[in-house]
Amino acid sequence: MRIESDILVIGSGIAGLSFALQAANHGSVAIITKREISESATKYAQGGIASVFSTEDSFDAHIEDTLVAGAGICHEDVVRMVVEEGPQTIRNLIEWGVKFTTKGADYDLTREGGHSARRILHAEDITGREIERALVEAVRQHPNIEVYEHHIAIDLITSAKIERRSLESNRCLGAYALDINGGRVRTFSSKITLLASGGAGKVYLYTCNPDVASGDGVAMAYRAGATIANMEFMQFHPTTLFHPLAKSFLISEAVRGEGAILRRRDGTAFMERYHKLKDLAPRDIVARAIDNEMKTSGDDCVFLDITHELADFVRGRFPNIHQTCMEFGLDMTKEWLPVVPAAHYLCGGVAVNQDAETDLPGLYAIGEAAFTGLHGANRLASNSLLEAAVYAGRAFRHASEAIKRLSDERLDLPEWDSGTATNSDEMVVVSQNWDEIRRSMWNYVGIVRSDKRLERAMRRIKLIQDEIEEYYWNFIITSDLVELRNIATVAELIVSCAQQRKESRGLHYNIDYPERDDANWKRDTFIKKQF
Ligand code: SIN
Repeated sequence: MRIESDILVIGSGIAGLSFALQAANHGSVAIITKREISESATKYAQGGIASVFSTEDSFDAHIEDTLVAGAGICHEDVVRMVVEEGPQTIRNLIEWGVKFTTKGADYDLTREGGHSARRILHAEDITGREIERALVEAVRQHPNIEVYEHHIAIDLITSAKIERRSLESNRCLGAYALDINGGRVRTFSSKITLLASGGAGKVYLYTCNPDVASGDGVAMAYRAGATIANMEFMQFHPTTLFHPLAKSFLISEAVRGEGAILRRRDGTAFMERYHKLKDLAPRDIVARAIDNEMKTSGDDCVFLDITHELADFVRGRFPNIHQTCMEFGLDMTKEWLPVVPAAHYLCGGVAVNQDAETDLPGLYAIGEAAFTGLHGANRLASNSLLEAAVYAGRAFRHASEAIKRLSDERLDLPEWDSGTATNSDEMVVVSQNWDEIRRSMWNYVGIVRSDKRLERAMRRIKLIQDEIEEYYWNFIITSDLVELRNIATVAELIVSCAQQRKESRGLHYNIDYPERDDANWKRDTFIKKQF
């Protein structure tokens, strides 16, 4: 069954929804999303959205903080553009109904690691949930937007594939998606396709990302021939709750922004030994410091202490974190929280220009799925919601002009062909490979890497990929299988980029090259599928 729209949006976080709301005034929009519309990484963002809203702050200061965190390879023109377009972009969110926490007549601005000023707008400690709520409400009311929940994109449709055209005139024409509940594959035909499918934390065993974060957009774009960049820079959040049932629940950096201190089990505060900003050092440094403290002490975790702040303040400022920790039997107003790092944010992704265009015509990418050049080797906290919203506006402006120039005539796209595939009776293959990839990535491609570990990881990933491909073509497709195939592709891309970079910089630390090498590596890594 074929579904036609001017624009196809894959993903329903801040990036996809804020783009759709603008684009729908210029054409028909179909949104496909893997679960319910609100289930995206955006919903789980606690900290907030960084932007210059205070007279004690400046664009230059925000730019400088972003460049410092990015460890020398942010694209300065992109940083300036995102920072300067920030305040207006946030006003748009407010117009769509997002309610940020206020303090008197102004917005309450909080601080996080690497920021030299208070500049994070937030909605208590559930900023993402509030943004998602407002955007979903607005999207639901828009007559030009059709939402397909429980649909997982399988692959992009390209003219090179269906018409066997040369790669030079290749173009994205939409996507095949599995209707998970209906068990059928649908063909989405569009003039423009936007990837806003989020990150890939599920590639790692421990992640604070929701289950949907399996790198689908990056994997599909790579398979379709788009250029991918800087995949070695996976950001590990320093503080997720260490508890067997907590699923790496995030303890926002804003808790340290409001004064919390990291301690060893014996009570020693250790961050002053690693950075002059102590507990508010950039995230790569804090995560590596914790990793080192855990390895040298043999402890399973370190501790986050905010017990010196007034209990009423802590409960009022962090109601969600406080309540969730209480459910696990931990009262953060009275006791230290056990914390460990976990995979959090992918700084690389599908390479795009300042209009969010990829190098595959007809395909745009924004949000965590995209590589814009903003984050460099390490994202500054709370710059990601900002980047997603700014690029949604830029992508919309470019795409709405592009669709005017494209003919309404559609190619007759072939339906998905499942050939002789049968139902699998061996789901254990999926769960075994899923577990193996994520464990190998955690052990060999985590916070501290080495050439040997990267080689080991790559060997295993290649073996698993062969098995997945065989399984993929022989059995009827399921969403688990689609995600497994994608995490295997993303794992391969992360290891490949990590193997290219023969230095340590930002989030990529390789003990065989412990120093930063500006002479050779002050640049991005790129990877493109060879057909
Ligand atoms: C946090 O609340 O610590 C996460 C903020 C971010 O990753 O930008």
